[in-house]
Amino acid sequence: MTQPLWETTYADLEAKSFGEASREILDLIPELPHRAKVLDLGCGDGRNAIPLARAGYNVTALDISEAGIRKLNILAKREGLAIDTGVTDMTTCDFPEEYDLIISHGCLHLVERNQWDRMIAQFKTHTTPSGFNVLTVFTDTIPIPHDLAPLCIGLFHEGELYERYSGWETILRKSYTFQDEHAGGIQHTHAANKLVVKNCRTR
Ligand SMILES: C[S@@+](CC[C@H](N)C(=O)[O-])C[C@H]1O[C@@H](n2cnc3c(N)ncnc32)[C@H](O)[C@@H]1O
Repeated sequence: MTQPLWETTYADLEAKSFGEASREILDLIPELPHRAKVLDLGCGDGRNAIPLARAGYNVTALDISEAGIRKLNILAKREGLAIDTGVTDMTTCDFPEEYDLIISHGCLHLVERNQWDRMIAQFKTHTTPSGFNVLTVFTDTIPIPHDLAPLCIGLFHEGELYERYSGWETILRKSYTFQDEHAGGIQHTHAANKLVVKNCRTR
């Protein structure tokens, strides 16, 4: 299979792979405790990890892409930011600690659905009381673009993500379609579910 299209922009230090930081993540910054711990899984080249590190949080950023992590490390170093990074498969990694915010943006549909229960259970277990999870996934509401079909092996059904967080406080829940333009002018339309939830657990 050819390499994922984002590998092209991960290899280019000046390219923006997925645009600006996610609005719903920036909006959480005032809600997080001082020196909050953040875990960004499938962080790519750091469009969310870098602004969170700039805001003073302790960010751990993991991705399976060596090029993505290499670029993130260089961009962070340019700004003098300390981000704990690693080339890691999120389907098999264990988390050593609890986080105030766990992010999985644009990644869960890239793994088989039989992995989700274990992964989401881990997200929940490793979120601090009153901590947040932020997830964005592609859904099968519209057909996945032909060239992405081999990658998007775990499309969610509409609403399925929301059901998995019943019992958590919903901060934002959004079902939408959007257009994405990638390097080389490749255009895609996607359907997505976005969820920002807060852990109601107390110690
Ligand atoms: C669409 S990109 C999103 C990147 C980033 N979250 C963002 O929003 O800018 C999906 C990312 O998931 C990563 N990824 C895919 N499968 C993975 C896995 N099993 N473990 C860790 N990262 C993975 C890819 O390498 C890629 O960087």
